Amino acid sequence: MPIIRYQGKLLECIQGATLRNVILNHDLTVHTDKAHYINCRGFGTCGTCAVKLTGPASPVTKKEKWRLNFYPHKIENGLRLACQVKVEGDIEVKKFEGFWGEKIS
Ligand code: FES
Repeated sequence: MPIIRYQGKLLECIQGATLRNVILNHDLTVHTDKAHYINCRGFGTCGTCAVKLTGPASPVTKKEKWRLNFYPHKIENGLRLACQVKVEGDIEVKKFEGFWGEKIS
């Protein structure tokens, strides 16, 4: 079973699970501030679940390419939309500041 390292915690999930759902099911969030309440609920359109991943995951989807290619995101930042990512193995997840998690440090 893959392990997700996020915010100092280790979250176990089944292979192929949707990253956003796993994190929410562990009483954590992939959203910042008010975006936790104002988001597209996983349809890949709002961009507020953007995170940085290290480790095996499903390929970037067309929807992710579309949403991560306009404000405030930049495709070259290499973020992923947690609602579109399927966990394929042990991964590390980092959330950045900003309403969309776009302030990469
Ligand atoms: S929750 Fe809106 S893009 Fe992921």
